[in-house]
Amino acid sequence: MRLSLVTKNLKPSATLAMNELISEKQRRGEQVYHMGFGQSPFPIHPSIREALCNHADERRYLPTQGIHALRNQVSEFYSKMFGLDYSSEQIIIGPGSKILLFDAMMCLEGSVFLPSPSWVSYDQEAHLLGKDIHYIETHPETSYLLTPEALESAIRQHSPTLGQQKILVLNYPCNPTGCSYSKTQLKELADTARNHNVQILSDEIYALLSFRDHEHHSIAEFYPEGTILTGGLSKDRSAGGFRVGVMLLPEQEQDLLKAILAVASNTWSCVAAPIQYASLEAYRPTPEITQYIADCTSIHELVTRSVHQKLITHGIRCPRPQGAFYLFPDWNSDRDVMQRGGITTSVELAGTILEKWNVASLPGMDFGMQSDDFCIRVATVDYDGEGALERFRADPKRAWRNPNEFVKEVAPRIIMACSQLGSFTDSIR
Ligand SMILES: Cc1ncc(COP(=O)(O)O)c(C=O)c1O
Repeated sequence: MRLSLVTKNLKPSATLAMNELISEKQRRGEQVYHMGFGQSPFPIHPSIREALCNHADERRYLPTQGIHALRNQVSEFYSKMFGLDYSSEQIIIGPGSKILLFDAMMCLEGSVFLPSPSWVSYDQEAHLLGKDIHYIETHPETSYLLTPEALESAIRQHSPTLGQQKILVLNYPCNPTGCSYSKTQLKELADTARNHNVQILSDEIYALLSFRDHEHHSIAEFYPEGTILTGGLSKDRSAGGFRVGVMLLPEQEQDLLKAILAVASNTWSCVAAPIQYASLEAYRPTPEITQYIADCTSIHELVTRSVHQKLITHGIRCPRPQGAFYLFPDWNSDRDVMQRGGITTSVELAGTILEKWNVASLPGMDFGMQSDDFCIRVATVDYDGEGALERFRADPKRAWRNPNEFVKEVAPRIIMACSQLGSFTDSIR
């Protein structure tokens, strides 16, 4: 069978090669510290589980946009959690936010602008759609955040025709950096986007996993008419396998909504019926669900900030995370010595760290960074989520009083991984 041109040119992710190496190591009986795979480790909340069991008999196709009761519930949820005002008519329920982002990108005219680093799939989705992709460089000193100046200059360079529509994908808290934007920064980006006809796909799937010293705001607060917001159950409710994502569209964009629903109805039809009914529970902001999200977020904060502290102590540069469960350290200050040692790309860097130090990570190149930028993404979720949740709930004050002790107890492999990254750093200095 011959492959279509677009699939022939798809970039295979370095994750696959990495997974093979991990399996080989595990076959050899070696311990691998898994900082490559970013899946939230906590058990599903019992009320969501119960709702799913109770609706196992739901067997019919449902409306493509999602059942009305669920869209209503999502509307209430966004109002209570984020103070955002969206009616149920502006909301689409999809099988994960990834496909919703793809569908929206398909329906919107214009080339795609991505800050580098950005989550792997935006680039690949835009590529599948035959879109022009323009990366906008960001810097570790400013937490890899996009500035209005950098956005403006990228627009001038790549889209000089006045008024032409463009798409910008923003993700905050960010995978791979864990960094996020302040209210002021979002407002400034919104002004620039509005002035240059930039439509924003705002991927806020990690919004509720913002740490205590960071208050999440959506750019939709400042640019409602040009923002398409996405979220879902995958991260803060640890239900990636449920495949539930939500998209919130500007009120006046009826044609866009219809276009996305036309794509959806001809491809994925609707989200599985039992899952939609279970999601009603997941989106009900009861004290139990909100407490569950808060506890999981606390553990992510304790673990991720503790890893960050350890990396800094080992002399590794890494922007301070404000949410999610990722870190984006780099070894660019060791460029010369690494190149002399035969490490010339981030793929080789991640390969060496896995091969010699047994820590799996992802190379910065997978996130749109230049190949010779020596950065990797580490995920901080290689621990038993159920045990961690139990221990945290038993004495939250103690966990906050002594985060290092808590992390040592609940996530020993993560502590080992940090010390391996430290040893790698010592070995090249
Ligand atoms: C930044 C980002 N957006 C979206 C997704 C996908 O989410 P969903 O499970 O809703 O498709 C992920 C999952 O890794 C992610 O990291």
